[in-house]
Amino acid sequence: MSASADPDPAAATGTDDVQLTDPDLLADPYTGFGRLRETAPVARARNLDGSPMWVVTRHDEVRAVLDDPRFANNPLSVPGIDSDKRAELLVNMGLSEEYVPYIADTVLDSDPPDHTRLRKLVSRAFTVRRVSGLRPRVEQITADLLDALPGHVGDDGSVDLIEHFAYPLPITVICEMVGVPEADRPLWRRWGAELVRMQEPDRMRSALVEMVEHIRAMIAQRREAPGDDLLDALIAVREEDGDRLTEKELITMVLTLVIAGHETTANLIGNGTAALLTHPDQLERLREDPELAPRAVHELMRWCGPILGTRPRWATEDIDLGGQRIPQGEPVMAMIVGANRDPERFDDPDRLDITRTYETRGEQHTGFGHGMHYCLGAALARQEGEVAFTRLFERYPGLGLAAAEDELEWIPRPGLRALRRLPLRLGGV
Ligand code: HEM
Repeated sequence: MSASADPDPAAATGTDDVQLTDPDLLADPYTGFGRLRETAPVARARNLDGSPMWVVTRHDEVRAVLDDPRFANNPLSVPGIDSDKRAELLVNMGLSEEYVPYIADTVLDSDPPDHTRLRKLVSRAFTVRRVSGLRPRVEQITADLLDALPGHVGDDGSVDLIEHFAYPLPITVICEMVGVPEADRPLWRRWGAELVRMQEPDRMRSALVEMVEHIRAMIAQRREAPGDDLLDALIAVREEDGDRLTEKELITMVLTLVIAGHETTANLIGNGTAALLTHPDQLERLREDPELAPRAVHELMRWCGPILGTRPRWATEDIDLGGQRIPQGEPVMAMIVGANRDPERFDDPDRLDITRTYETRGEQHTGFGHGMHYCLGAALARQEGEVAFTRLFERYPGLGLAAAEDELEWIPRPGLRALRRLPLRLGGV
């Protein structure tokens, strides 16, 4: 939006483009994108660098974009965009050129037939059985972190749940799943944090370099002496025609799991805990009936999920959508935050109600995306959420916010709903 424009996104219906860094939109994405859904469900917007893009906010159109193969995840699928141009975008983010391939060609950044192949290979290793078999370890890791919380209480009597529980839980679970030895986990926690926070390019670059080398060494060692972790399964997986993941693809896949499964799950735990503490009636219901945990996690994903919008989808041709023409080459962001509060789809959408019913897969909410790129780790994330919420409130029945609700600080990053800190009082235990 230009300096003279009304900062209210409702004004962005034709003449003014939506600015993703608009402070109002960052502070309260539910109201801002909700207004857009009413007034301009397919709206012109400006990317962070000022280039044109589109945001889509209605449930039906969000799904339509994610179902339409003419919208590509890989900009290379757009006629006229070459790999130099794509690499430039990534290098601008602070990556060294030689590591661009490890980040640029993830399963999430690919289109068929590459996506079909990668997704099929990884799905053979990342199975439902592997995820459910991990549950006792998720319980143990959760219990250990919860036991350690009193040791992190500061002078003001509060403990930051984000730093001491929400972040360490998912990265430790990923380490466990991949098969990272206990002694190396502190390193992974540090690299993970530096990679996902993406705030300091130099540290991100060195974390990436160190992590790639570490994964490469792990692969070499597993080839000598195989075990039965996810990494072994990824190394071993082979299609009938002999196709398998190359070393570069293996490294990229492990990095993807760390990046995709870390900050997201951490913020589901942070946002969900804050939501339950500020809705004591809902927390009470969960406490009375822990069997509600799977539904509660779905509802928290809908109501305050960490991902507000998907990765950009690139129009591979001119596409008509919701009365607008999206020109070839322009990116579209499918706003999960709009779809998940769409009154056409959910009764009383702004109300948090952990007793709403959801189907397990193909649920009406789009917190884990939709279509062929639907989150690979959704079952794992849901499992972590269920264990985290249930055990946290069980272990600390007197848990409470150590700050007023309106003092909680949300990180102003487009596309992400995340608390900087979540200070809590553990209460009498
Ligand atoms: C894809 C959300 C946890 C791995 C996605 C997408 C969303 C999402 C919205 C689709 C993005 C798009 O279409 O642009 C979440 C949330 C999580 C979570 C909210 C936690 C609460 C995880 C975990 C893992 C994971 C724990 C793995 C350890 C992936 C992968 C993809 C993906 C590999 C790409 C799938 C593909 O392109 O086929 N996730 N995710 N995610 N997620 Fe998750």
